[in-house]
This record gives sequence, structure tokens and C-alpha cells, in this order.
Amino acid sequence: MTDLLWQKTGTRTDERIMRFLAGDDVVLDREFLLCDIEASKAHAGGLANIGILTTGERDALVRELDGLADDFRAGRFVLDDRYEDGHSAIEARLTERLGDAGRKVHTGRSRNDQVLVATRLWLKERLGELSAHCVEAARVCLARAAGEALPLPGYTHLQRAVVSSTALWFAGFAEAFIDDACRARDTRAWIDANPLGTAAGYGVNLPLDRAHTTAALGFARLQVNPVYAQLSRGKFEIAALDALAGALLDLRRLAWDLSLFTTAEFGFVRLPAEYTTGSSIMPNKRNPDAVELMRASYACVAAARTEVEQLLSLPSGYQRDLQLSKGAIFHGFHHGLGALALLPDLLARLEWNAPAMRAAIEPAMYSTDVAIEQAAAGVPFREAYRAAAAAADEAGQGRTPEASLAARTSPGASGDLRLAELNARLREFLP
Ligand code: ARG
Repeated sequence: MTDLLWQKTGTRTDERIMRFLAGDDVVLDREFLLCDIEASKAHAGGLANIGILTTGERDALVRELDGLADDFRAGRFVLDDRYEDGHSAIEARLTERLGDAGRKVHTGRSRNDQVLVATRLWLKERLGELSAHCVEAARVCLARAAGEALPLPGYTHLQRAVVSSTALWFAGFAEAFIDDACRARDTRAWIDANPLGTAAGYGVNLPLDRAHTTAALGFARLQVNPVYAQLSRGKFEIAALDALAGALLDLRRLAWDLSLFTTAEFGFVRLPAEYTTGSSIMPNKRNPDAVELMRASYACVAAARTEVEQLLSLPSGYQRDLQLSKGAIFHGFHHGLGALALLPDLLARLEWNAPAMRAAIEPAMYSTDVAIEQAAAGVPFREAYRAAAAAADEAGQGRTPEASLAARTSPGASGDLRLAELNARLREFLP
């Protein structure tokens, strides 16, 4: 391993203990090394602005940092256990290439604010992706809702309830994913504050140019207080995971619908073949594995959230416990975004089986319509309800799903879907 940043002459290390301290940290740091490099460039710029580095040193550092990023992307630089962590690797490389300029780069910063700024930059990107996936899913749902309104049984308690439609179903999930996109955007704005320059959590005796690093890294504002910068670790990761979990709760219910609707018992929908797999033993099987893994991805995110929350039972100030939050957020976002990324294509290519859906609509499913019509004509609703219940099997006489759907004119329902209103909300997200 390269020299430890913190090793003083005379200190000793023990292999076994070092391995425990390291864990998989350096491998996890690969995930946001590019963010760490960007932040290092901004920090070098700030140091030059206050005379700690010459402009020549700054330019050399920026050049080497760009080179390191290129090498890392191309696989020419591998971040591995030659280094204690990603932060050490950056400094080691700069020192090896530039000598004293490399040895100066850590002036006024700590790995404690370095990891914070890298995590915030990484999460801002991920939340941008989250919102983009939700917007795309909502866009497909709205297009399909506008395209056709095939009658579909509406269920409560998984019992046949009233006539619904594919358009109502799609529009429902469209609104859900628009809400999820809003939440991702709001959460991104909430964490869009720069912790770089808070050092170990108490500031430093230098007039660091924090305005420069804030602007250079594209943060909306400064995270002001250094104690709070450390207090917020874990908390902003949880906020990001919550935003992701919100979208995955909707995806989980959608995936549940699809896995039910694809069974022979329902037979309402056919998934694109690529989203299904076979069985190693049962030649007849066509299993909806992709939909099941989409449903399961919520569990990874919920577990990640719990893991981070459990770590936070800490006094103020940096504690090494916090390091374990990285594995959780990487795991959670990997699974969650992976599932959401496939959703728009899946939704666009769902094939409904209109005859099977129509066959599942039974006469009694019109009885709510019957009771409400009577109530609208002046019969007290409870009386109309009892009369409709007594004649439930005849409720369908002279009725069609199309007429029932068209008559459901309460705003937002099948007779008045308000797709324009949903489209207007969605347009706010489009460039
Ligand atoms: N790897 C650490 C983390 O993720 C950052 C380094 C800070 N380490 C330290 N001993 N102060 O939290």
C-alpha cells in the first residue's frame, strides 16, 4: 500500500487491523472517484485564489486531475487496495507526478469534507436520473392513456368492483410518476449545498474561497456551518433514498398488477418476450422475472435506508461509522435506478388482451352506477344502494363498459381523464 496520509514517523500498523479498517472502502470509492476528482480541481482553484498555490501549480494540478479522470475511465488507472481510499489515491498520484504541488493540495481540507462533497455530487446526478426515469415512465403512461381505453375490471380487495379501463390505469400511474419526479427534483434541490471547505468539521484558519468551489461545482448554495456539514451526513443520503423509495413503491404496485394480470387466471396482459424467462426444468414456463425483480428492488432501497439510519446513532462530529453509508446508497441506487430505467420500454410494449378483460366484467359491476343514477334522480342514496344490491345481477341489463366509463365524469375519472392537466405538469420537466 502507498504511504498512509495520516502516518507519522514511529507509528506502527498491524496488517490484520488495517484490513478490518479498510473493509471494501477503496473499492466503493471507485463509484464516486470522478466526483472526488472534480471537487479536487475546484479546491485547487480556491487555494490559488487565496495565494496558497501559484496559478502554475493550480494549472498543473487541474491538468493531472483531468488526466487521472481519463485514465480511470479508460481503465488505465485502477483504484484498488494499493491505496487506503480514493482520497489517498488522488493525493498519491498528484504527489508522484507533481511533487510539492501534490503535497500542497490537501491544504485546508479533510477527507471528512472530501467524502461529503463527493457524495452530494454523486447523489445529485443520481436524483437527476431518478427524475428523468420517472418523467419518461409518466410520458409513456400518458401517451398510452390517450391512445386507447380498453375496459378493464377495477378491483378493491382483489374482488371485482367497478368497470375501469386501461386508460384510467395508465393515467393513474402517470400521475404517480409525475409526483415521484417532483419529489426527486425537490430532494435534489434540498441536497444541492456545498460542504467543501468545512474541513474536518470545524473550519480552518484560512479564508478559503468557498464561493469559488460552490460555483465551480455547480452547487446552488453553500452549506454554511461546518458542524452541520457533518451532522447532515447520513441525513441527506436518507432523503435521497426516500425519494427513490417513493418511486419504487409505485413501481412495486405496478409490477404486482402486471404479475397478476399475466397469470393464466387473469390473462389480461402479455409482457414483451424479452422481459420473461424460461424454467430450467419446466419446458412450458414463461416467467415474468423482470417484473418480479422490479418489484423486489424496493426491498434493496428500504434496506439501504435502514442501514444508513442505523448508522446515525452518533454524537456530533465525524465518526468512522459514517463510512458504511456508502455501500448502502450505492447498492440501493444501483438496484432502484436499474429497475426504473427499464420501466418506460416495458410500459410502451405491454399488450392488453381486450377479450379476456371484457369477459371478466360481470353484470354486478354496474350496480354502483345504478345506485348513483338513482341518487342523482332524487332517491336517497342509501335507499338506492339497497335496491341496487338486491338486484345486483340484473345491473348490467342494457349497459356496456363503454357507456359506464363515459358516464364516470367526476373530474379525473374515466369520463374526464384530465390528461391535459397531467401533461402540463409533465411539461415542466421537459427541456
Ligand atoms: N472513507 C471515509 C468515509 O467514507 C472518509 C475518510 C475519513 N476518514 C477518517 N478517518 N477521518 O467516511
